[in-house]
Amino acid sequence: MKKISVLFVCLGNICRSPAAEAIFRSLLEKKGLSDCFIVDSAGTGSWHIGKKADSRMRIAAERRDINILSRARQISSKDFDEFNYILAMDDSNFRNIQDLKKSTASTGLASIKKIQDFRSAFNEQEVPDPYFGGDEGFDYVLDILEDSVNGFLENIS
Ligand code: 4NP
Repeated sequence: MKKISVLFVCLGNICRSPAAEAIFRSLLEKKGLSDCFIVDSAGTGSWHIGKKADSRMRIAAERRDINILSRARQISSKDFDEFNYILAMDDSNFRNIQDLKKSTASTGLASIKKIQDFRSAFNEQEVPDPYFGGDEGFDYVLDILEDSVNGFLENIS
């Protein structure tokens, strides 16, 4: 059976999308679905390419037994061919992804959505960027993502 591929995208690929990737991996593992999916994350920006996720996010995630192991990379037009779903963390990411698709004249079939389209317990329509804020912002991002990532899996199952 062909695997379902999912790419989570934020701005820097060091806070929100690596967290979403790790939460989704953990959820798939719990449900015995890991072999059915390819999961990755990327940033629209290039500043942090090759870096580990922000230590504040890694520590907050570890407290929930979620390991963030990814290294940052930038989204590229071939991702529109290689992924079934591209899930943006906020409106700005969403617009930048659409702009990249247009500017590269990509014919890829990836379904581009916002992860918060799948929320149920939180009203937030975007995942707030925690980078310039305090530690509590990282926990809040994890709370929001645990909800919407679950919703995403339910929606496609
Ligand atoms: P992310 O957070 O998009 O969730 O990875 C950010 C990380 C870095 C920067 C902005 C947001 N930055 O400006 O370097």
